[in-house]
Amino acid sequence: MLKTTSCGSLRSKDAGRSVTLAGWVHRRRDHGSLIFIDIRDRDGLTQVVFNPEVASGAHSVAESFRSEWVVQVTGEVQARPEGTENPGMATGEVEVLAAEATVLNESLTPPFYVNEETEVDELLRMRYRYLDLRRAGMRDAMILRHRVVKFMRDFLDERGFLEIETPILIKSTPEGARDYLVPSRLYPGNFYALPQSPQQLKQLLMVAGVEKYFQIARCFRDEDLRADRQPEFTQLDLEMSFAEQEDILSLIEQLYTEMIDQLTPEKKLTKPFPRLTYREAMDRYGSDKPDLRYGMELANLNDFARTTDFRVFTSAVENGGVVKGFAAPGLASYSRRQTDALIDFARERGAAGLVTIALQGDSGPLDDLTEDKIRSAASRFLSVEQVAEIGKRTQARIGDMILIVAGPEKTTNAVLGELRHELGRRLELADPDEIALAYVVDFPLFEYDDEREAWDAVHHAFTSPKPGYEQYIESDPGKVLANCYDLIGNGEELGSGSIRVHNRALQERIFKVMGYGEEEIERRFGQLVHAFEYGAPPHGGIAPGIDRLIMMLANRDNIRDVIAFPKTQTGTDPLFGAPGSIDGAQLEELGLRLDSEV
Ligand code: AMO
Repeated sequence: MLKTTSCGSLRSKDAGRSVTLAGWVHRRRDHGSLIFIDIRDRDGLTQVVFNPEVASGAHSVAESFRSEWVVQVTGEVQARPEGTENPGMATGEVEVLAAEATVLNESLTPPFYVNEETEVDELLRMRYRYLDLRRAGMRDAMILRHRVVKFMRDFLDERGFLEIETPILIKSTPEGARDYLVPSRLYPGNFYALPQSPQQLKQLLMVAGVEKYFQIARCFRDEDLRADRQPEFTQLDLEMSFAEQEDILSLIEQLYTEMIDQLTPEKKLTKPFPRLTYREAMDRYGSDKPDLRYGMELANLNDFARTTDFRVFTSAVENGGVVKGFAAPGLASYSRRQTDALIDFARERGAAGLVTIALQGDSGPLDDLTEDKIRSAASRFLSVEQVAEIGKRTQARIGDMILIVAGPEKTTNAVLGELRHELGRRLELADPDEIALAYVVDFPLFEYDDEREAWDAVHHAFTSPKPGYEQYIESDPGKVLANCYDLIGNGEELGSGSIRVHNRALQERIFKVMGYGEEEIERRFGQLVHAFEYGAPPHGGIAPGIDRLIMMLANRDNIRDVIAFPKTQTGTDPLFGAPGSIDGAQLEELGLRLDSEV
């Protein structure tokens, strides 16, 4: 090796040792005739001193050093002179007095500072990802990611799971997104699809008798990207035979608890993980992935709303809808303009409107509510007593703003859920060191898709109905609950899974309710339904997303910051220039012709 020691390891006990370091010039300072260099490698930084009176050759080499040059230095470790120690640096008690120095490679001036965590345009960072990855924040995220994946592998290995790779070139494996397609050269006009997840493959492995499978699996989905979504991402994909829901939930709870306690002990993890039914989550938070680090629970105001003369309320209830709301702490100070912007926020998400009731005054209990404290466009329809009643039900205090939506249940929940999330973020209600993991269970099996005019699977088509609900699959699909569960954390969906269907007849009934005909079932899912006829064991599994987990553990709000080579929000790779065009010969070989309009 061109080095004997890493740049992060030297301490005062090493004084007197002769060492060779190799790494990048992180920072250089000239103090009179002395030159100080911080050398950086993946492990950290070490200060090196070049004194022309001790080693004039090394000193003159160091004079040429510039940022990000790759250098090698040999010298003796010494304690830093008293008063010059740097407690902010792991190696801050010592320095290396250089005897020899070599330039291993030079560097152009980097387009941004590698040695500072300053805000840099993300496109530039991605274009020079190899420089961005040298920065401490990205390096730490990569190290954490490695440790998490290693922890998962070891944990599952100890419990008898086999890691098995499944193909990337396969047939469409629907998970609700568009497929990425790869044209076949040998079969012109035919395409492979990249897996949206290894779902059917892991189920086939269960039929194959593997019993306990996992994989750190890459998944590909052509969908609109967001801060928590990438077109290719990684799951801890897992499946078990003869397991019941409880076995999967407790396995993952134990894995996540031990992993987080060990790898990120500074985090405050909720233990044990609370469990919410889907119904409860929607009723209390308007979302199936609520952030549980703060309150702002939704109150159902239906029975009260019915008794008012406020048309917005009464007509929602009469039309079978709901009136729900919550109190946002301290928000009474919002200006008219800020309040209007909240109303727009609700409208853009499908609500007919948003009733806002600001309870103005010094923060305090609701007991002192008087007319002059109420600021609301709805105040002429509601008496002080009625506002006080709404305040009581939403647990409001003076100083808060109550936000109410009236309308169909689905939209009302969705809008309030998003408002709650948005205000939780704006008001910084969540402790960034807290990790509030929870399970959401008892999802419906199907939901009606108004556009397609058919039933869709809420999780996916391979999920089994809960005992006692099978009889309603055809007669009342909306009523059927599923053996399905989500792992949620800090407002994100971190994983989903289910106990699967394992017999052909039931699987076909589910496909049919979803609008698939015999021929289509055979074409798309033949491989699975046939396998079910050869002794398929009962089985189930889950697939937690790894990128989102690292995002949460590393306190990042952007998934790209925990992936070495991510795609931009618009699906491009600025480093390689992907996606790129291909030449005519390649197209011809694949039997493809581009539409000249494209
Ligand atoms: P699902 O589609 O719910 O389930 O995905 C499981 C988890 O994967 C993560 N995830 C993503 N992460 C980043 N970018 C994306 N585009 C993205 N899409 C999903 C989320 C999500 O909770 N086969 C089933 C699992 C099973 O039933 O076992 C599946 O893939 O954290």
